[in-house]
Amino acid sequence: MDDLKQIETDITAAINGVNDIDSLDKLRVAELGKKGRVSLLMRRLGKMTPEERQEFGPKLNGLKTALNDKISDRKNVLEEEALNARLLSEKIDITLTPTPEGKGSIHPITQVVDEVTEIFTEMGFSVAEGPEIEEDFYNFTALNIPEEHPARQMHDTFYFPEDENGKRKVLRTHTSPVQIRTMMAGKPPFRIIAPGRTYRCDSDATHTPMFHQVEALVIDKGIHMGHLKWSIENFVKKFFEVENVKVRFRPSYFPFTEPSAEVDIGCSFKDGEIVIGEGDDWLEIMGCGMVNSKVLENVGLDPNEYQGFAFGMGLDRISMLKWGIPDLRDFFAADLRWLKHYGFSCLDIPSLSTRPLTQSGQK
Ligand code: PHE
Repeated sequence: MDDLKQIETDITAAINGVNDIDSLDKLRVAELGKKGRVSLLMRRLGKMTPEERQEFGPKLNGLKTALNDKISDRKNVLEEEALNARLLSEKIDITLTPTPEGKGSIHPITQVVDEVTEIFTEMGFSVAEGPEIEEDFYNFTALNIPEEHPARQMHDTFYFPEDENGKRKVLRTHTSPVQIRTMMAGKPPFRIIAPGRTYRCDSDATHTPMFHQVEALVIDKGIHMGHLKWSIENFVKKFFEVENVKVRFRPSYFPFTEPSAEVDIGCSFKDGEIVIGEGDDWLEIMGCGMVNSKVLENVGLDPNEYQGFAFGMGLDRISMLKWGIPDLRDFFAADLRWLKHYGFSCLDIPSLSTRPLTQSGQK
């Protein structure tokens, strides 16, 4: 049997001498491939006596594994070097002043947040915020979604590893935890909207792992479904800029509202394009309902004294509908051509602000 140590030393030196992944791959084929030195030795095992085989078999296998490990280590090193070289050569200086050719635009999501905020602030709402890395309590438990509740499965949650107290944080699956944070932080009445990023482990043409919602919450004495209905209808008219739009409330279920409904708006399809307003078709745009008395109790409010409504709406979805954007994934592809087409000029202001001034100079 040839000197295995010598073979190992030779090949190791060759591996360490290689400076790019292509050459490393060629070396692997030449030395460990079918016609390589190690495989030829392997083939000789068949002709050996059982005793010899018992001695050389493990040694040869050991050699093969050792060389394969060295190749993969070298590959990791070369890949990291290549990545570092690339990062260094592709770095951009973000402090440079923008050139006219590189002019950016306002992303449709930013525009939609501005428009929705404009509409609701004019209706007397203020804007609230909450963290995207959320505690289980705010995202689920306080919203009347206890552990083992089937609704937890529906949320395709991204969980963080357990912390030292055995608790797992989540990437918030909806903006509803902001309801809880708002109610726990202050005293009613509340009238807030909370736009922001939300996360679910889901991906296709209409779902992305990160998406956007806006939550609305109103809590006061004597709030009823009528207030909910008017607020939503008023929003829909202003947002889609159509005076006559059919709005339908379909009974539904959410653990944190009772009764609950899903809201559809009327639409029709003309030449492959959606026309919002009237027609025989319906598009679902949000979930809503009267805040469940259990949720009010969870945040220390007396349901006999205070009532309220809430709704949650997909911002990506309503911008796709408003501006006829076909694929949700493009929103997050960072393709400048797409942004040029669907983006807004930085001078575009939310739709309400563009209404003509009245004689008194007020909007
Ligand atoms: N949080 C719900 C969702 O993500 C939407 C919703 C919000 C429903 C508020 C009712 C009230 O689907």
